[in-house]
Amino acid sequence: MSAIKKVAIFGASGNFGAPITTALVKAGFEVTIITRPASSSTFPDGIPVIRTDYTAEKLTAALFGQDAVVCVIGPAGVETQATMIDAAEAAGVRRFIVNHFGWGPGFRNLPEFDEIGAKRKVALERARQLSQSNSEFTWTSISIGNPIDWALRRFPLMGFDVNQRSATIYDEGTEEFTGTTLAGIGQSVVGVLTHPAETANRFVLARSIQVCQNQLLDAFQRVTGQAWKVEHGSAKDLLGSGRKKHREGAGRWGLDLLVYQLYAPGEARCVLASKEDSDAGLLEIVEETPEEIARKAMGAVVE
Ligand SMILES: NC(=O)c1ccc[n+]([C@@H]2O[C@H](COP(=O)([O-])OP(=O)(O)OC[C@H]3O[C@@H](n4cnc5c(N)ncnc54)[C@H](OP(=O)(O)O)[C@@H]3O)[C@@H](O)[C@H]2O)c1
Repeated sequence: MSAIKKVAIFGASGNFGAPITTALVKAGFEVTIITRPASSSTFPDGIPVIRTDYTAEKLTAALFGQDAVVCVIGPAGVETQATMIDAAEAAGVRRFIVNHFGWGPGFRNLPEFDEIGAKRKVALERARQLSQSNSEFTWTSISIGNPIDWALRRFPLMGFDVNQRSATIYDEGTEEFTGTTLAGIGQSVVGVLTHPAETANRFVLARSIQVCQNQLLDAFQRVTGQAWKVEHGSAKDLLGSGRKKHREGAGRWGLDLLVYQLYAPGEARCVLASKEDSDAGLLEIVEETPEEIARKAMGAVVE
């Protein structure tokens, strides 16, 4: 497969879209941003922006001449992705990065997530079908596990309140999980597009670190130079609270259940892949230390 140069991105200003766009530009790709007419998103100067309705006809015109498309739109837009894939194939795009950035195809998700998973599968199946009927069209989907520096900063329920410098350690604090930093997520997309042959028509598994809560607490304390206030909790309580919220139709059930999955004792549920079995080497994602993660998660609040 010849080199990929021109890349269109959907969702360029999002939580992951912004670092992915930065990484693509830095790696030398010719990036074009596609956005909705009603979008209030803002984008970096110097990158062409196409504002268009997301119909098959208009998207085909917008994507004409692109080598690859990266879809990193938020969950609310998941159902528009099949149209993006149809349009990309019709426009002659050679690689479509199917929106995933989650835990991958073999992941043992709780049944509460089945409905969301089924919606995502529609686009993946569409990409699979088109890659079988048109050998010029290929796809990749990227699993990142926990988006670790971003998630630690954003969700204290993960056990670390970076503003209060306090922690909740679930159970023994020894359950390991894998995560990818925002820099690693950006690099995972760059890695796929610079290794198109090796990454065609499959999921790739990204990771920056494998770590447990106790190691993170230690790192946060070393990075901030102070002892954090520590409380203890039980992952099972999160399973109970998440399921209750889900049954009652209350919001934020997903976060409880995601954190439960992360720390469910003895399950190693959220180890996406060992370093050797992952695609981190192929994608040139740098392995990071707990201290580097803690520093990134503290962001501006670290002195
Ligand atoms: N592994 C994890 O724990 C984890 C955590 C968070 C997210 N994710 C996944 O990562 C992917 C990206 O998530 P994100 O948090 O970066 O997204 P986000 O910031 O919520 O949204 C990104 C962009 O999506 C576009 N968008 C939003 N609603 C849309 C709609 N209804 N139709 C079309 N486009 C829409 C917008 O772009 P424009 O305004 O430019 O159109 C928006 O800026 C998703 O698949 C999400 O599920 C995984």
